[in-house]
Amino acid sequence: MSDLRELLFFYADSGADEALEDEPVNRLGPKRTAHAQPAEPAGGDRNTAAPSRPAAPERSVPAAPRPPASPDMAAAIPDERQAERARELARNAGSLEELRALLAEFDGCNLKFTAKNLAFSDGDPTAKVMFVGEAPGRDEDIQGLPFVGRSGKLLDRMLAAIGLDRGKAYIANVIPWRPPGNRTPTPLETEICRPFIERQIELAAPKVLVTLGGPSAKALLRTQEGILRMRGTWRSHTTASGREIPAMPTLHPAYLLRNPAHKRLAWRDFLALKLKLRELEDGA
Ligand code: URA
Repeated sequence: MSDLRELLFFYADSGADEALEDEPVNRLGPKRTAHAQPAEPAGGDRNTAAPSRPAAPERSVPAAPRPPASPDMAAAIPDERQAERARELARNAGSLEELRALLAEFDGCNLKFTAKNLAFSDGDPTAKVMFVGEAPGRDEDIQGLPFVGRSGKLLDRMLAAIGLDRGKAYIANVIPWRPPGNRTPTPLETEICRPFIERQIELAAPKVLVTLGGPSAKALLRTQEGILRMRGTWRSHTTASGREIPAMPTLHPAYLLRNPAHKRLAWRDFLALKLKLRELEDGA
């Protein structure tokens, strides 16, 4: 029994913290026949349902290769064509609602297949300030909202410290689907998702952008600089239509939870943000 506990802890520490199937699969038990395998529903709603992984193929009964349910399903292994498709789709979204619907339909990013929900945004899309993190974690995946877990609670406190809350801010992530086990998104996954967040920023048209953590700064500010050098300095995010949005890279709340001594740096960044918002109000 304690071995089992240790194994479960090991799984959880490794990021495998969720059961993906309702029934355990006894891969060492009597072999199942091919027809006993549950059929995968064709094109189920991947945004609301837990992903139904294809049953493990029977070793003695070779499974026939399953054709993709749609041409897009082939993109379970991401490639550059999907990044091009994403750019084209995102460009054509005329509103945030349209963009959300497009993303919900988009099958070109493999992360969608393991995520429970699309975590598109939270807060007020007309807010003056937009915060963009890296990718949803477990709680965000369950609720379909960005920054609602431990990092989100800290973000709420940071917002409150400068007189903001989720009603006065718009919140999103570069990647809108949780990477399995919270692994780091691959460069190609980021490349595929980037056109959507860039269009989301363009459509929300905030006066100020705040990137949370290094990956978000790198993706949206097109820089390879480290976050500890970059943070606290005003940068600029350029939209596809050429609009320049003042952008402040700051530390990610998850990083601050692990390195509380650096909260003072984030505090400075948030004070600079408060000042900028006040300037914008005075100048309006
Ligand atoms: N970390 C992120 O970058 N985004 C979230 O939504 C949650 C944690």
